[in-house]
Amino acid sequence: MKRKVTKAVFPVAGMGTRFLPATKSVPKEIMTLVDRPLIQYAIDEARAAGITEFIFVTSRGKGALEDYFDRAPELEASLKAKGKTEILDLLLETNMDSGAIAYVRQNQALGLGHAVWCARHLIGDEPFAVLLPDDVIAAEKPCLAQMVDAYAETGGNMIAAMEVAPERASSYGIMDVPPSIGRVLPMQGMVEKPAPGTQPSNLAAIGRYILSPDVMRHLGEVKPGVGGEIQLTDAIAREIEEKRNVYGFRFDGQRYDCGSKAGFLQATVAFGLARPELSTELSNFLIDMVAQRQAAE
Ligand code: UTP
Repeated sequence: MKRKVTKAVFPVAGMGTRFLPATKSVPKEIMTLVDRPLIQYAIDEARAAGITEFIFVTSRGKGALEDYFDRAPELEASLKAKGKTEILDLLLETNMDSGAIAYVRQNQALGLGHAVWCARHLIGDEPFAVLLPDDVIAAEKPCLAQMVDAYAETGGNMIAAMEVAPERASSYGIMDVPPSIGRVLPMQGMVEKPAPGTQPSNLAAIGRYILSPDVMRHLGEVKPGVGGEIQLTDAIAREIEEKRNVYGFRFDGQRYDCGSKAGFLQATVAFGLARPELSTELSNFLIDMVAQRQAAE
């Protein structure tokens, strides 16, 4: 059955250990690419795909995230008084309507699947999207909007898919799909972090999903998997076992893994270069840096 997707879950309860010590007091999702926090990119992408209900799965120490989407009356008044209307408009874009965001708490970091399951009462019997804000995707048409369009044709479950080098496959959930150059790929199975050399394909799941409410039921039943965590991949694999449709979706766009330092730095450079007001200065700087490094070698 195909239904409109209006709810999205943002699991943001992870510990962000790869960014310690910064994440001791700053939630990873508040870290900025140029001048916007990671979470803003995810929210904008969800809005562009028609999402109207935003569910955050949070944990201790994530208060800055809740404040970020709230109004900032003093700041707004001060910018208004000074006539700084452009910055004021930017600020107002970050406000979310009262009641549009709901927060549920994951009181123990038991894995991504468990975090998604924490939103079960708010999802009820509806299909829903999941966006991992660590995965930032630069695309002409935002990735989730591409998926929503494809899902309108297929229904079922849909997961964003990206080719990875064979030696990187053991870091991802890997899709078992027949060889194909198509964009929508019916899945026969899915394995979380396969042992090197055992991956069923080179197509990895990345952090954009459209899922049926049945996945919540599976999440309530699956046992801890790889790493002792409740894995979203295992619940999706159950959907396939129960003969429900699960598709990989080859999106157009460039994904940055902002949960890793290297990915975050790459995204910072790419998003900086994409800004007209920064691109010349930044690219000149990068050219100089590379030349200096080469001269020193
Ligand atoms: P990651 O494992 O990449 O994020 O989880 P992490 O745990 O925050 O980071 P590291 O590995 O310690 O550096 C992917 C997504 O799932 C969420 C994270 O917040 C991130 O958005 N997550 C993960 C939860 O919400 N709860 C969990 O128990 C685990």
